[in-house]
Amino acid sequence: MLDPAKIRQQFPIFSHYPKLAYLDNAATTQKPKAVIETITNFYEKGNANIHRGVYELAVRATQQYEAVRQKVAGLIGAPKPETIVYTTGTTAGINLVAQSFLEPRLQSGDEVIISYMEHHANLIPWQMACQRQGASLRVIPMNEHGVLDLSAYREMLSSRTRMVALVHVSNTLGTINPVEEMIAMAHEQGVPVLVDGAQSVAHFPIDVQAWDADFFVFSGHKMFGPTGVGILYGKEEHLAAMPPYQFGGDMIRDVAFEETTFAEAPQRFEAGTTPIAGVIGLGAAADFLQGLDKTEIQAHLKQLGHAAREALARIDGLRVIGNAENATAIVSFVMENVHPHDVATFLAEDQVAVRAGHHCTQPIMDFFEIAGTTRASFSIYNEQWEVEQLAESLARIQKFFSV
Ligand SMILES: Cc1ncc(COP(=O)(O)O)c(C=O)c1O
Repeated sequence: MLDPAKIRQQFPIFSHYPKLAYLDNAATTQKPKAVIETITNFYEKGNANIHRGVYELAVRATQQYEAVRQKVAGLIGAPKPETIVYTTGTTAGINLVAQSFLEPRLQSGDEVIISYMEHHANLIPWQMACQRQGASLRVIPMNEHGVLDLSAYREMLSSRTRMVALVHVSNTLGTINPVEEMIAMAHEQGVPVLVDGAQSVAHFPIDVQAWDADFFVFSGHKMFGPTGVGILYGKEEHLAAMPPYQFGGDMIRDVAFEETTFAEAPQRFEAGTTPIAGVIGLGAAADFLQGLDKTEIQAHLKQLGHAAREALARIDGLRVIGNAENATAIVSFVMENVHPHDVATFLAEDQVAVRAGHHCTQPIMDFFEIAGTTRASFSIYNEQWEVEQLAESLARIQKFFSV
């Protein structure tokens, strides 16, 4: 059994905010001491730029930085460190694939498939690529429970489809999509698939090889690591075929005024000075996560999600948005006659930290005909008392607005 109280002790922020129910983990997670110390140590004792210097500090920084590829490969089941590209986050990884992988092979009349529940980061880059090339964006429909229609998806896949981009876990609805099955369906038509793992990498077992995912992207800051760094996993043959996306230092083989040749992947996608301390901090986050049991994390979140949905169902005038059977502890809701931002503001007064708005998923808001939701999203250090604090505060808000 996962012991959230014990895990909590590893996160210094909670000693400063002991009564805060931090339920905004889908936006960003808190950082364990091991990650903070790794970053501090790097700046205090190991700071140098990478790949350039021959002095001890630079050599050590380069080794530490490069070693993180193997840690990340281990975390997501990637075959080798060379398939791990450092980016600045999920958004950057998707833009890279859309522009460098998809766009050169996208022609007028082609199609790209995404789902109804994509974060804007996994929608706009594909939409822009389609617009530039005269291709069409197709959208897998979902039902009122927040579940994707797989038969519609199967019918959508055709010889015109060039790419599928899918979120593993919805940041708004908590729905867990059957990505392995959906990848297999796309592959039957020879279509490559990118999986957006922003909300899944911290809590779910990921195995890009078993899934046969073509690309998998995520952000460090949503998996207990620092901001400003993320990962793009790509199959070796895809990365090898992709032209560089940005140009500059550290991504070249040879430069002359007449012509430049580029380094192999992953270096060719890492132009300029990358977030070195961030990458090293991400390595510490990967180690931290590897020390936890993913099955126990799942059980813990399932229980918290269940408890939260049950507690919220008891509050008059409160509607939970999305109720997929296969969902994680991300719970979006609306309160009758109260704006989601007001709900979040009142919750903040009761030391409950949540997010309100469209959560960068405006199509979901349009589908449910709402302007926004208030969202509580849980993680490994959340406990039952936080569900109660949320529910009690919501009951108070509901009472306040109903008189
Ligand atoms: C499902 C999903 N995809 C993509 C993103 C974008 O992540 P980032 O802003 O770290 O690039 C988020 C962030 O909330 C997300 O939840």
